[in-house]
Amino acid sequence: MKVLVINCSPVKTGATAEIVRMISGELSGRYEVKSICIDDYSFGFCRGCRSCHKTAACFQKDDISLIMDEFEKADIIVSVSPSYWADIPGQFKAFIDRCTPWCNTHDPHSKLSPGKKGYAVALRTGPGMQECERIIGSIVHFYGHMEIDCCGSLGLCGIGYKDDLSPRTEEIRQFCKMI
Ligand SMILES: Cc1cc2nc3c(=O)[nH]c(=O)nc-3n(C[C@H](O)[C@H](O)[C@H](O)COP(=O)(O)O)c2cc1C
Repeated sequence: MKVLVINCSPVKTGATAEIVRMISGELSGRYEVKSICIDDYSFGFCRGCRSCHKTAACFQKDDISLIMDEFEKADIIVSVSPSYWADIPGQFKAFIDRCTPWCNTHDPHSKLSPGKKGYAVALRTGPGMQECERIIGSIVHFYGHMEIDCCGSLGLCGIGYKDDLSPRTEEIRQFCKMI
């Protein structure tokens, strides 16, 4: 079974990247794990033209297809997103918008192979879990329209930098046990 772990932050060496590294390490004994960072890919914004509602494809030819190839190869997808202004980072939102050709609210639409499972991880510096829940909600919504079954989530408050993660290792390890 293959797992894709996505760093949904534009920071390649920050707290999100560290969580991706911890989760990938935990899962690598049981799965074939690949991790990617949203910022390794170059793609345009959705233009809202809705041509994909008729064609199930975007007129823009860029790295979105490379990311979707990774989604297609994976049996399990773990999205790890920080809070930026109490929401997902713009790069991650731009990616989700570009997944409209795969969105199941219109026909025809492109389809991932069925049976994929998803997990959502949110982190933030502030103390309240509600903000993590909002980010998890965005990921769950995305998974739902991609027909990825969301099977679990983890919210981590009080994380500003990767050094804040060492006391949270056990929490992350316990989360990985349910994957
Ligand atoms: C542009 C920006 C906006 C942020 N907004 C929030 C916020 O609204 N609430 C919060 O709790 N943390 C916020 N943070 C803090 C990040 O969620 C936190 O530092 C996280 O660990 C960043 O992970 P990264 O360095 O991997 O991107 C923000 C950070 C940045 C860079």
